[in-house]
Amino acid sequence: MPATFTKSALLLSLLLGLGHAQAASEPGPSALATRLGIPHPAVIAHRGASFDAPESTAAAYRTARDLGADYLELDLQRSKDGVLFALHDNNLQRTTDVASKFPERKDSPANAFTMAELKTLDAGSWFNAAYPDRARPAFAGLKILTLDEIIDIAEGNSLHKPGLYIETKEPKQFPGIEHDLKEKLQDRGWLSPTASKLEKSELAVGQGKGKVILQTFEKSSLELLQKEMPKVPKILLLWVGEGSIEPKSKVTFAESGEQDKAAYYARQQPKDKAEFQQWVDYAKAQGAIGTGPSAALTQGGDQSYSDLVQPWMNQYTHDQGLLVHVYTIDDAVDYRKVMDAGVDGIFTNRASELLKFYKRPAAASVAQVLQNNGY
Ligand code: G3P
Ligand code: CA
Repeated sequence: MPATFTKSALLLSLLLGLGHAQAASEPGPSALATRLGIPHPAVIAHRGASFDAPESTAAAYRTARDLGADYLELDLQRSKDGVLFALHDNNLQRTTDVASKFPERKDSPANAFTMAELKTLDAGSWFNAAYPDRARPAFAGLKILTLDEIIDIAEGNSLHKPGLYIETKEPKQFPGIEHDLKEKLQDRGWLSPTASKLEKSELAVGQGKGKVILQTFEKSSLELLQKEMPKVPKILLLWVGEGSIEPKSKVTFAESGEQDKAAYYARQQPKDKAEFQQWVDYAKAQGAIGTGPSAALTQGGDQSYSDLVQPWMNQYTHDQGLLVHVYTIDDAVDYRKVMDAGVDGIFTNRASELLKFYKRPAAASVAQVLQNNGY
């Protein structure tokens, strides 16, 4: 159960004139995270170590695991023949060679392909072309991964077992995916903690009760996830825009005349305080243990959105007994900014950098970890 005031704590705080947020007996976010089996602060490897290797591939997930990330993050989709797999985009164009393998279907959604078809695609070469300074010959030909394969990777290092942080991506495209996910996690033994001598160690995220966190932007999916897996921690993702928090200004990016999307997003704000608060309240009412808000990045870029981690926002969320895991941050200046603002964990493409920032540096460099894994 999330940390909330007991009646006696509330009475005590009123008697002491502390206001509702300062009751001495209220468990803080750190205690709440610990009770849930979630590291505090948490290192969430966004699509794996996706700065260093092609996102959502074995290279990215093995690297994140072996660096010591707490969680492997993934965007869950379902193939035409019902197999759960990881891919961020709706279609395959940006991160595979679909245009050469299936030219007439290149714009089709990924879910219009069978798993056998998806497995024919090269999900690594695009990275070598896009980031020549980080390219490696072994990235060419990497495959799209099934959820089963990502679970195998999460279980595959005897010294460090990361958890899984699974987003139902565009869940309206996949009716019943919440149930399918439950079945898969249950089959694989991921719906209950695994007894282990490592269980009390901070390295045992993937063996404790916080081994899976479920995340979604969609209210309806949050409700279905809660129905299917009431005991698994859940996060409601937040941003300002259609389907999420209503913006103060209704001017679209196209109408704004702005050239830079990050600059446009950085100016977007919730309509008012109550609009932000009602999304947090909704998350709590549906059984979520926290929120996953966006952040505006100092350097801008395509993962820079509205600043939803202002101190008052995090304070309000904490006051409701919820955690804050912010997405997606890669630079120390922004790590510092959001930690000072009060977040409880960070989605990052650069797990190695965030681990360093948290003074939990990996034992080996990214290059060594990649090499150890044959990349
Ligand atoms: O899941 C958190 C973050 O990943 C949300 O953004 O678009 O990268 O899935 P996106
Ligand atoms: Ca995601």
